[in-house]
Amino acid sequence: MAAKPDLRYGSTNLERRNAMQPQAAPIRNNHLQIVVAEGKVTLQDLHAALDKAIQVVAGHCNCGLTGFDVSFLRGNPAQRAPYLLREPEYQDPFRSTLDRQGEVAQMATTTQCLDSVSIARVAIGATYEGRDRALLERMLPLVDYVEVTLETISEVHDGQISLNDEIMAELKNLGKAAKIIVHGVGLSIGSHDGCSPTYLQLLDDFLDQIDVQWHSEHLGYTKVDGQHLGIMLAMPKTQEALDMVCERVRAIQERYKLPFLLENIVHVIPDFPGEYSEAGFLNAVTEQTGCGLILDVYNLECDAHNQAFDIPAFLRELDLTSVREMHVACGVEHNGFLLDVHSQLTRASTVELAQRVLRSAPPSDRVVIYEFMPEAVPGLGRDAIAGELARLRAAFN
Ligand SMILES: [Fe+2]
Repeated sequence: MAAKPDLRYGSTNLERRNAMQPQAAPIRNNHLQIVVAEGKVTLQDLHAALDKAIQVVAGHCNCGLTGFDVSFLRGNPAQRAPYLLREPEYQDPFRSTLDRQGEVAQMATTTQCLDSVSIARVAIGATYEGRDRALLERMLPLVDYVEVTLETISEVHDGQISLNDEIMAELKNLGKAAKIIVHGVGLSIGSHDGCSPTYLQLLDDFLDQIDVQWHSEHLGYTKVDGQHLGIMLAMPKTQEALDMVCERVRAIQERYKLPFLLENIVHVIPDFPGEYSEAGFLNAVTEQTGCGLILDVYNLECDAHNQAFDIPAFLRELDLTSVREMHVACGVEHNGFLLDVHSQLTRASTVELAQRVLRSAPPSDRVVIYEFMPEAVPGLGRDAIAGELARLRAAFN
């Protein structure tokens, strides 16, 4: 038998927390985005871009050469591989980034024709872990939401973990520039011996100081018998696990009086046999608790690549009404294994998969978050990250 959920930690805080379509045809918004190398857009760039536009239009895209918007984005074309070509049909999402690098290397200018998802408003957000004001200034005009991971903005002194004061001051100063959402990695809601009291302490401290729109965690576990695994593993899809996690979700909802979302995670190892499918388990959690769902489409792509996960079947079964937030990201392939390391700009397949989900979902306001690690910023460059956010805005609105 699984242990009862242990959310007793910090229960003294409870009192002061009492406040709290079917697949549509592709929609084209006639928006052509042209990514050029850093620096000015030259006449040669313009000619090359228009040549490429004609090529795309004549090939497949129906955006036409009249009545469409053109915008130029600065960046490294080699890092825009995902957007090099826009094909009319859904592409193989498992086509490797390396395959696309070859296409990009042949061109100084890349072109993309992005579909628009205009069924309902889609807000854009990005991760921010503090101490990079230059990045924040680039991000803020382009995002509606800033996603904060508490463990990343914390530090350990004398064996005690606490939120970093400097980063907290930064976040408090955001004001109305962007809304804040909290995304945890250390709650370990799926551990048989209870959620992490350390994470709950961080969340208590954060919410005491900063208003957030909602908070979220991953549907998985990072520790067993109090020992940290150093990795996050997916829960078994059994009735016992479902009952356990639902009870914990309800306790969290009661404790914080804030919307709470859970995210599908990658499967590093094959699933333990259970009574529920992946989508069936998520449906049961959201139906029984009313919590929202974060659908990380890159995680789906990793599972498909690594575990032969059937994304179309999963999406047909998943109740998309619960999806309030979507994650897009990109990692690298290592020894044939697609890693969820959030170190790259998104590839086209990931954005297209997110677009497909949104077109299939009942209309509702949702948020698409671009996730990247702070360690990836020097390699990607702030300009490239800003360009990514601009392209996501165009892709989803
Ligand atoms: Fe994610």
